[in-house]
Amino acid sequence: MQPPEVIEQLLGAEEIEGKVRELAARITEDYRGKDPVLVGVLKGAFVMMADLSRCIDLPVEMDFIAVSSYGKETASSGVVRIVKDLDLDIEGRHVLLIEDIVDTGLTLNYLMNTLKTRNPASVEVCVLLNKPEARKVDMEVRYSGFEIPDRFVVGYGLDFAERFRHLPYIGILPDEVATGVEESWETE
Ligand code: IMP
Repeated sequence: MQPPEVIEQLLGAEEIEGKVRELAARITEDYRGKDPVLVGVLKGAFVMMADLSRCIDLPVEMDFIAVSSYGKETASSGVVRIVKDLDLDIEGRHVLLIEDIVDTGLTLNYLMNTLKTRNPASVEVCVLLNKPEARKVDMEVRYSGFEIPDRFVVGYGLDFAERFRHLPYIGILPDEVATGVEESWETE
């Protein structure tokens, strides 16, 4: 089992809840009279999607998309593979992509461009966390919760090697763990 004491808390559960409510209120206001499709990017966005959607006072529909990066080399070109596509037809619909974090921006940029080819009425992005220093592509993030430093974070849906997604807060993973010196702390 992972020792949670190695995780330094960056954002607490209450702070996150307040921000999610704030984002939901803005979305409710901006999409008044519309029935947007919320598209969660799996797996990281599942917690945010559940919390955010329950605070949006609109007749939303929900769908999920899952992507996997082609690996280091192609990740820098922004090519990602869709491993689970949408079930809904988004033609003529207002689409709001929900993501846990925008880092380089390559994933969301690719997804936005891909979804735009399906002729939706609009495509916007809502993220909980934003690392502006890490950005590699210029892209508009309409709804952004917190700007955070360029550190590896986990919790609230975000993982490191599939772990820590369940943490109710967001924490910084120590550099020695994030860079892969994992066995030493795992067996301690
Ligand atoms: P991108 O670099 O903006 O394309 O982000 C790609 C994906 O990397 C995100 O959707 C996250 O799943 C993951 N990611 C980026 N930064 C972090 C982090 O600090 N912790 C956990 N996952 C991250």
